[in-house]
Amino acid sequence: MTTATPLRLRLRDRVARVAELVATPLVPADFVDLVDPLRNGADLRARIVAVTAETADAVTIELRPGRGWRGHTAGQYVRIGVDVDGVRQWRAYSVTSSTAASFTITVKAIPDGLVSNHLVRRAVAGTVVQLDQAAGEFVLPAALPAKALFVTAGSGITPVMGMLRSTSLADVVLVHSAPTADDVIFAAELRGLAASGLLRLVEKHTDTDGMLTTDELAALVPDLAEREAWACGPTGMLDALEAWWPTDRLHTERFRPSVLVTGEGGSVTFARTGTVVEADGATPLLDAGEAAGVLMPSGCRMGICFGCVLPLREGAVRDLRTGDITTAAVGDGVLIQTCISAAAGACDLDV
Ligand SMILES: Cc1cc2nc3c(=O)[nH]c(=O)nc-3n(C[C@H](O)[C@H](O)[C@H](O)COP(=O)(O)OP(=O)(O)OC[C@H]3O[C@@H](n4cnc5c(N)ncnc54)[C@H](O)[C@@H]3O)c2cc1C
Ligand code: FES
Repeated sequence: MTTATPLRLRLRDRVARVAELVATPLVPADFVDLVDPLRNGADLRARIVAVTAETADAVTIELRPGRGWRGHTAGQYVRIGVDVDGVRQWRAYSVTSSTAASFTITVKAIPDGLVSNHLVRRAVAGTVVQLDQAAGEFVLPAALPAKALFVTAGSGITPVMGMLRSTSLADVVLVHSAPTADDVIFAAELRGLAASGLLRLVEKHTDTDGMLTTDELAALVPDLAEREAWACGPTGMLDALEAWWPTDRLHTERFRPSVLVTGEGGSVTFARTGTVVEADGATPLLDAGEAAGVLMPSGCRMGICFGCVLPLREGAVRDLRTGDITTAAVGDGVLIQTCISAAAGACDLDV
């Protein structure tokens, strides 16, 4: 047993070197990927093992990661790269399972959403996707709080479900909003936990009950000030919570960036393809490039993973979150995050 693995690896390396000689310009990794895409040393990938419907527009996808996978902490997200119509698209999804060899993500299709609709309607077992290591700070502390509050809406339940499945918290209140009872993702499991007394669940069905307000939250959770809180949902809900309860005991996870500052746009040149578009000052350069058919690197699309960084060859861009202007003169090659940067005049990107 102890010598079999190294021998197999040496043989595989030798086959790979011979293949390299006869197969240029394709590299042997391309061929090995065909038979063993999850092997050691390959770019990290995962195979879809199962796809399970959660609601009419949400599915849970079980992924078996390749050998370089370092695992995750409950609440973190992964970036996955999926080929949609022949173009590799990267998006972030929270891990919804407890820590294990394979893990799950749960995707809700959004109107006109390219990757979410692809995954919800067309993902099938056996497909291999690109994977990045888990990341993110939206996690429980090592010393668990005596009392916890989760405030979630829609697909915002996903990182919290990962936490609930991984940890035993003593005293938990979950206030979850969804349009109707049928739209509640993980409904049966959450209601089961509530029935067993493991959490207090407040469902808010917004089609009939209206949106959750902060006054209502205060009434629903009278001991709120004693609780450590985690919230995930639409931007409006998170902005309202943060403004109402400015405390470091409230932790929020955003699926989209908060765009605070827009301004004049400009002419954007994607130098390598020679594509030039007029972009307004509110459109991320990533979106402007993709809309023009430029193959843009991307990841979380909200400024946290740096998967979209490109050199700004020349010109000016505005950070949509802060309004900060970054300028570059020819040759500077200043690196910018295209997902949260918009044109602030003419600009020229090295892509
Ligand atoms: C850290 C993190 C964790 C995430 N976890 C999950 C998760 O567990 N489950 C899940 O379903 N999604 C999650 N997301 C969101 C996910 O990454 C994608 O943004 C989402 O699936 C939409 O991608 P798309 O390609 O379908 O939409 P796109 O084609 O990129 O966008 C289509 C349109 O929808 C808008 N849009 C983009 N994202 C959203 C959004 N989240 N809500 C409303 N409108 C949007 C765009 O501005 C655009 O107008 C997470 C995002 C982050 C950053
Ligand atoms: S895509 Fe993640 S930082 Fe831009």
